[in-house]
Amino acid sequence: MDAYIIDSMNLIVRFLHVITGVAWIGASFYFVWLDNNLENPPQWKKDKGIGGDLWAIHGGGFYEVAKYKLAPEKMPETLHWFKWEAYTTWLTGILLMSIMFYLGADTYLIDTSKADISQGTAIAIGLTSLFGSFVLYELLCRTPLANYGLTFGIICLVYITAMAYGLSLIFSDRGAYMHVGALIGTVMAGNVFNAIMPAQRALVAAVTEGSAPDPKFGAKAKFRSTHNTYATLPLIFIMISNHYPMTYGHQYGWLILAAICTITAFARHYFILKHRGIQKPSIIVFSAALFIALLVVIAPKPPAAVDAGTPKVSFASVNTIIEQRCVACHSDAPTLMPTAQGGVKLDQPALIKKWAPRIQARAINTHDMPLGNMTQMTDEERASLATWISQGANID
Ligand code: HEC
Repeated sequence: MDAYIIDSMNLIVRFLHVITGVAWIGASFYFVWLDNNLENPPQWKKDKGIGGDLWAIHGGGFYEVAKYKLAPEKMPETLHWFKWEAYTTWLTGILLMSIMFYLGADTYLIDTSKADISQGTAIAIGLTSLFGSFVLYELLCRTPLANYGLTFGIICLVYITAMAYGLSLIFSDRGAYMHVGALIGTVMAGNVFNAIMPAQRALVAAVTEGSAPDPKFGAKAKFRSTHNTYATLPLIFIMISNHYPMTYGHQYGWLILAAICTITAFARHYFILKHRGIQKPSIIVFSAALFIALLVVIAPKPPAAVDAGTPKVSFASVNTIIEQRCVACHSDAPTLMPTAQGGVKLDQPALIKKWAPRIQARAINTHDMPLGNMTQMTDEERASLATWISQGANID
């Protein structure tokens, strides 16, 4: 298919994915916030069965929100549900995955230096990782382990680490990261579909019939929605991680992914405790410190001081390397891509010099460029570029 058409589909679906994702996570954040800020209501509200209320100001006016302890006596005429935010985020996510990583498997998913697999095999492995994880999670939720929150959480983290590692052996670094994100997203959307919505439907049915709702449903939904709360920040991190090759492109990218999932899930713990009336801001501070410490640990080693004796790498040889390995995607008229990728053109000496620090970041500190090493750059060539940059990146 024409590259421009694929790019256009990618743009439209990504735009929709971000919009629906903002709606889903936004609503979820908002309700966590509501729960955490409810106050003891006045007696007349308590008499109606209201367990907590709060006042807020937003946009053009005051809002009075009340949460029932159990349920209102009579069903209101209009009840707003929150499910399509989750479903459409998942649907657009799978579509985007298909356009970018499955249709474009040769470019984005397959890394022949790791596994020389066909497009069909790559897609089969990708989809199995998503749906297989969903099935495993659903099974795990039905075991007695579901009664032990912390153990369950640790098992999920170990599983995510194992998947990050396993997929990193087969897929491109980005492909592996994105599949871990997508499997978390699939489990989360599944939680809405399989547990949270049925529980809400049962609750509504009970209130309509005037019978007492079965607490079993509520407990199940609570368990799953707690998982979703912990999973949100790891998921959001993975979705933006593709802009940061220092994470996915690192030699231990899978371990970094596991560490960031742990740290960001831990940060969410602050809000969960707050809901139980426990204030521990130290958790946020500690998570932020851990995050920064991780960035320090994974920082690339400063380039070795240039030995005065090292022969000078000429710009002519650098230019040849760039022409052979980069220009196919980075020029006014690239041959492998429809337009200059990432807005980077490397077809003029001054531009190569200008981009030298980013060349360092993307082709030397990490091997993220050339994309999927499609132009088969060698380690010696990377070393020459590194030396040229450390000698001052001169173009004359
Ligand atoms: C097969 C196509 C392809 C080849 C070959 C390629 N790139 Fe890229 N490059 C991309 C794409 C796609 C992006 C934009 C997405 C992104 O930033 O990851 C990009 C973005 C970049 C960026 C800009 C992002 C930033 O970090 O500021 C730099 C710099 C870069 N490439 C350097 C290189 C260098 C150096 C080479 C050759 C050693 C190279 N690329 C070869 C596809 C390619």
